Amino acid sequence: MSTQNVQFHDLHSSQDEFTTDVVQGLNQRPAMIPPKYFYDAHGSRLFDAITELPEYYPTRTEVGILSANAAEIARRVGTGSLLVEPGGGSCAKVHILLEGMRPKAYVPMDISKDHLLLATEELAIAFPWLEIHAACTDYTREMSLPPSTPPGTHVAFFPGSSIGNFDPDGAVDFLASIAQLVGPGGYLLIGVDLKKDKTILEAAYDDAAGVTAQFNLNLLTRINRELGGDFNLSAWQHKALYDTQRGRIEMHLVSRCEQTVIIGKFRFNFAQGESIHTENSYKYSREEFINLSARAGFISDALWVDEEQLFSVHLFRQATTTENN
Ligand code: AVJ
Repeated sequence: MSTQNVQFHDLHSSQDEFTTDVVQGLNQRPAMIPPKYFYDAHGSRLFDAITELPEYYPTRTEVGILSANAAEIARRVGTGSLLVEPGGGSCAKVHILLEGMRPKAYVPMDISKDHLLLATEELAIAFPWLEIHAACTDYTREMSLPPSTPPGTHVAFFPGSSIGNFDPDGAVDFLASIAQLVGPGGYLLIGVDLKKDKTILEAAYDDAAGVTAQFNLNLLTRINRELGGDFNLSAWQHKALYDTQRGRIEMHLVSRCEQTVIIGKFRFNFAQGESIHTENSYKYSREEFINLSARAGFISDALWVDEEQLFSVHLFRQATTTENN
C-alpha cells in the first residue's frame, strides 16, 4: 500500500465458514443462506448498480438526508472523533460527513478485502489529513477496534438500513455491541428504512431491469465457483415480497422444478416451488426504531426524515453501560 495514512488489519479469513453456513442453511427447511455472502466482487458491483436503480429509493434518499444535515450532525458529535463504520467497504457515504466532522481517524470494517483496499486507497488520497485504520472483519460475528486506534469520542456510522438484515432481537444485540464499542457518551448515526406502501417496497426489491434478480442469483454463481457447486441458474427464480405483519421484505430463490444440487461432497434435494430464503430487510417506523435502540442502551439525540417520509437517519447517544444485555 503506497498511501501513508492507511493501516490495514486483516481480522477475517475463512472459506470454511462459507461452506459451513451454506451446508447448514441448505439442510434447514425452509432453506436459507445468510445475506452477507451476496458481497463477492461481482455481488458488490451488482449492489452498487442496485443503488442507482429508479425503484431503489433508499440510497439516494439517505444521501440527500445526510448531505442536507451534515453540518448539524458535525455540530452535535463534535470534531476529533474516532469514526467507525461497520460494513463500510465502499466508504461511499462517509465522504459526505468527513469535511464537516473532521474526525481524528476513520475505521471502516468490511468482510470484502478487495473492496476495502480499493476504497480506502481512494479515500486516503481525497482526505490526506485523515488517519485510516481499515479492518477486514465480519461485523456480524465480531466487533472490535483494531489495535492502535487513537482516543476520541467514538462515533459509529451504520448507513444504508443494513440494520434491516437482522431480525429485531438480533438488531438489539448488534446495537448493544455497537453501544459497547462506542462506550458511554459515544454516538451512533444510523440509516433506517421506514415502513411504507407495499408496492413501493416490492418494486425496490424486484426492479424492472432485473438487477436485484441478478444480485440474488449471483449467490448461486458464487457457491458454484467457490464451493464446487452445480446450481443451474435457470432453474431458480428471484422473488421479493413484503410481509406487512412482520414489517419485512423477504428475498427468496424459488426452485422452478424438482432438482438435486451438488456442492462439493454434499447433495441437496429441492421440490418444485421450494425456496432458499436469502435475505430479510426489516422496515421500522421512527418510534419502533427508537424503542428498539433504547433496549440496547441508546437515547435518541436527533432524527431526520426526507419529505416523502421514505427513509430515516437517527443519531443516538450511548447513555448507559450494557453489561447486563
Ligand atoms: C444492504 C441490506 C440495506 O436491504 O435494502 C438491496 C440489500 N438487497 N436489494 C437492503 C439489498 C436487495 C440492502 N441492504
